[in-house]
Amino acid sequence: MDFSFLPRYYMFFLEGSKNTIFIAAFTVLFGVILGTFLALMRISNNRAISILATSYIEFIRGTPLLVQLYIIYYGLPKLGVDFSAIPLVGIYYGDFLAGIVTLSLNSAAYVAEIIRSGIQAIDKGQMEAARSLGLNHNYAMRYVIIPQAFKNILPALGNEFIVIIKESSIVSIIGIQDLMYKADTVRGNTFQPFEPLIVAALIYFIMTFTLSKLLGTLERRMKVSD
Ligand code: ARG
Repeated sequence: MDFSFLPRYYMFFLEGSKNTIFIAAFTVLFGVILGTFLALMRISNNRAISILATSYIEFIRGTPLLVQLYIIYYGLPKLGVDFSAIPLVGIYYGDFLAGIVTLSLNSAAYVAEIIRSGIQAIDKGQMEAARSLGLNHNYAMRYVIIPQAFKNILPALGNEFIVIIKESSIVSIIGIQDLMYKADTVRGNTFQPFEPLIVAALIYFIMTFTLSKLLGTLERRMKVSD
């Protein structure tokens, strides 16, 4: 094992990590917002809305992320929707957006199912009790159901965030300079096919492990009130 490339190339890994965190953070944000809407649409009493959300969720979960990325990055520009042409904050340009949009649209489908199952896991009696105490449906949702559902949702949601950090490596394939892309550049520059990838794997692991520890702490805090 020869890690002597590190003094020369460590900036590649730092830049890549920064970009990976940037992409994952925005994906989590947009994924949760969109996923919440999808979950509410799916459990809605309006059948048309519910079917629409269900179709979206099933389609996204039933097709590979890579295909979705290619459709959005290569396909949509042909229809006039070109995310790469839209400049994004600071040094992050268009291709980032195509990556973040794809990952967010994908993650939202998974988040929607996590939220839906979390809400539906709350015993029916909770809603009935809240309603019989005179709360209307919205209040009962907000003050009785959602706070309890949140605790069910948190572990699975945290898992989804970790999945996103890892799955975001797929955007390297469209030239986004995330950690995977940078590691591969170092691999090419140094003619070392092994060590740079080990470094990337370690950095990914540090990210996911840290996040999982943080979420574990949060979960334990929330249990205190049980
Ligand atoms: N590799 C899987 C796919 O291509 C993972 C999709 C992303 N998963 C997720 N929980 N967001 O379909």
